[in-house]
Amino acid sequence: MPGSERSYGAYLEGRERDGLRRGLVDIEARDARTISIGGEAYVNFASNDYLALRFHPSVIERARALAEQHGVGAGASRLVTGNLDLYAGIEAKVAALKQKPAALIMASGFQANASVLQALFDRNVLGAEPLVFSDRLNHASIHFGCAASGAREIRYRHGDAAHLASLLSRYQGHERPKFILTESVFSMDGDTAPLAEIGRLARERDAMLIVDDAHATGILGEGGRGLSGEADVVIGTFSKALGGFGAHVACSDTLRDYLINRCSGLIYSTALPPPVLGAIDAALDLVPSLDAERAHVASLAERFRQGARALGFDTGVSTTQIVPLIAGSNHAALSLSMKLRDAGYFATAIRPPTVPAGTARLRLAFTAAHSNADIEGLLNALDDRALPRSASA
Ligand SMILES: Cc1ncc(COP(=O)(O)O)c(C=O)c1O
Repeated sequence: MPGSERSYGAYLEGRERDGLRRGLVDIEARDARTISIGGEAYVNFASNDYLALRFHPSVIERARALAEQHGVGAGASRLVTGNLDLYAGIEAKVAALKQKPAALIMASGFQANASVLQALFDRNVLGAEPLVFSDRLNHASIHFGCAASGAREIRYRHGDAAHLASLLSRYQGHERPKFILTESVFSMDGDTAPLAEIGRLARERDAMLIVDDAHATGILGEGGRGLSGEADVVIGTFSKALGGFGAHVACSDTLRDYLINRCSGLIYSTALPPPVLGAIDAALDLVPSLDAERAHVASLAERFRQGARALGFDTGVSTTQIVPLIAGSNHAALSLSMKLRDAGYFATAIRPPTVPAGTARLRLAFTAAHSNADIEGLLNALDDRALPRSASA
């Protein structure tokens, strides 16, 4: 056995000791509300298909139709023969939804952040090393894209526009191109960035504002267009509220052309499979008409936040369909997750490095497939947990 193999084994043992070891679980999913594991059914509060579109009949139908018409694979990257004539219409729909001149479809949200940011921060193209101001709690794929470009992130305190302003001031007068990077809705906290203030700062300081709208697209904003109106560049995914897979960048025509020429994730990767494009296309057609579903999801999340807080749980700064229950230690988060599982509810324990040390949590996500009764049931399951606590008080 090579020595490196032993190092990997030792790493896994360390993860186990610290309650941080991850593992894959076989999931059976037959509808948007429930999952089964080992024959046991659970109400699923851990998925991101906020509008329950992954089981929508017209989404499935268009995916099936495009598989039959165009095959199950694209056969090549978009620059070779993978740029099926379906793309132009779908990208026009994305650009309209995001109110930007152009859009470019990419393979996944992770890949988009990893490779689009690398291309945008290329110092050879910019003529100087860029100054990249980045929210501390930005998604791993954003940090990955920055690292890939070689740009050092200047991290501002989470959601803190005043801190961002002071860091921008520190670099006032530098002739280097400036960028500000933030998520619109933070994936593990369910709060929103102060985008109006950040947008104002970006304009005042001549910085390009790049917003990852992954958790707002489809589910928040007017007609489900997300919250990225202030941004120069929007990165989003079809894998959350739109129920499918794939990602997009919405931007200027020049930037779209630049990415086609410079973005490794687009150039060196096979284009999305036609059925996936079909699912994206059908979901984009549905999104503007889903106001009732968006209101339902918002009211479920609000009811849950109130109920959980009344039971003494820490739901952090959530204001959206994502609500954390912050447990603190890794073991506390894991045992809360198991407690809910015993009661028939599935919520994943999220631990460092996905969240900062000491803030391990359950991340609950509410979707159009959930009912009011599901929320009451979930709160009851949490209430059971609170009983021994009050008994010992
Ligand atoms: C903010 C954010 N950006 C990007 C991604 C990655 O998107 P995808 O799942 O499409 O790769 C995620 C999801 O994991 C996310 O939460």
